[in-house]
Amino acid sequence: MVITKNNVTPWLVEGIVDYEKLIEEFGVKHLSEDNLKFLKDLSAKKNIPFHLFLKRNLYFSHRDFDKVIESFKKNENIFLYTGRSPGGSMHIGHLVSFLFTKYLQDVFDCNLYIQIPDDEKFLFKKDLNLETIEEMTQKDLLNIAAIGFNPDKTFIFRNSEYIRNMYPLYLKTAKKILLSQTSAIFGFNNQSNIGMINYPALQIVPTFFEKGQCLIPCAIDQDPYFRLQRDIANSLGYKKNSTILSKFIPPLTGTEGKMSATNANKAILLDDCAKEIKNKINKYAFSGGQPTIEEHRKLGGNTKIDVCYQWLYYLFEEDDKAIEKIKNDYEKGILLTGELKKILIDKLTLFIENHQKNKQKVIDENLLEKYMYKGKLAIKMWNEKFL
Ligand code: TRP
Repeated sequence: MVITKNNVTPWLVEGIVDYEKLIEEFGVKHLSEDNLKFLKDLSAKKNIPFHLFLKRNLYFSHRDFDKVIESFKKNENIFLYTGRSPGGSMHIGHLVSFLFTKYLQDVFDCNLYIQIPDDEKFLFKKDLNLETIEEMTQKDLLNIAAIGFNPDKTFIFRNSEYIRNMYPLYLKTAKKILLSQTSAIFGFNNQSNIGMINYPALQIVPTFFEKGQCLIPCAIDQDPYFRLQRDIANSLGYKKNSTILSKFIPPLTGTEGKMSATNANKAILLDDCAKEIKNKINKYAFSGGQPTIEEHRKLGGNTKIDVCYQWLYYLFEEDDKAIEKIKNDYEKGILLTGELKKILIDKLTLFIENHQKNKQKVIDENLLEKYMYKGKLAIKMWNEKFL
């Protein structure tokens, strides 16, 4: 089901992604200097560091982010919405949008809705059964809750469970979407099962959980859903959503496509131990270094294709001077591939260990219960009628 010229759909990201072409094809915009300055100033005001993902242009584009700024300046309601479909093990790349969402919740101090569509992958993937998805869902919930969202202002919900409350909004949404529209956007055809055809309505529904301005931080492959929302929002009495969109973190094995948890070698999973991290990076991380030390010293490495460098740049080395030095030293052959890998291994190990501790905290403090059922926002949402 390849429907874009760039091989990027909500289900598949292939080859080297040409982000400029995507921007053009999807009709989104680069984050402007003004957009970034707004977030920088707001962060400073809240005493929160300007986020690495913005500094390094990982979040690089948007649709109607200016509307968010406008709403904020007028003191109007803004809320955040993001999500994750269970269906495989979570890896480092999957945390990007949640880490960034936490930052946005901190700076905007607003409500956040996290959808867990425990129906999506079941419908879209032939070989996945509901039992496996149930297992994955339990793990994902823990990983997501470990990010540390504001428990009073965050609602995490599973479609299979919350569907009863969403149903009126779902009905209104579904009635507005024609088969011709979803087929044109998602490439559905006569061979698509009818659950798939219906799914986009379910991913759109949470954009209507509040009347204010919805901001969705996500990877750019999710854009088609939210483009469709914009066609129907006003007629239902809601605002068109805004999105802030990221690039993909390259898989371990090379700078093409995106990381996939189905190939465990291509990703660092959130439950990998220190030894696995070390082995995977040393064995599989695609290197821009030269085949021998002599050649490397002479010619230097290529940071554009070196996955360790890319991961440090986008995810782990916050210090601008430090990353600049790594780049220079690697390109001049002063820094060897093994040494670069070691820098990443140390950072990654620390990050994963910290994440494990946060997961334990979620368990010890029963936080999941709060996000899903007993928090202020959760209680409000379970009582909501949406009629
Ligand atoms: N479709 C997303 C996935 O495959 C899950 C999702 C649901 C989502 N709602 C969202 C992602 C809102 C971003 C924003 O994981």
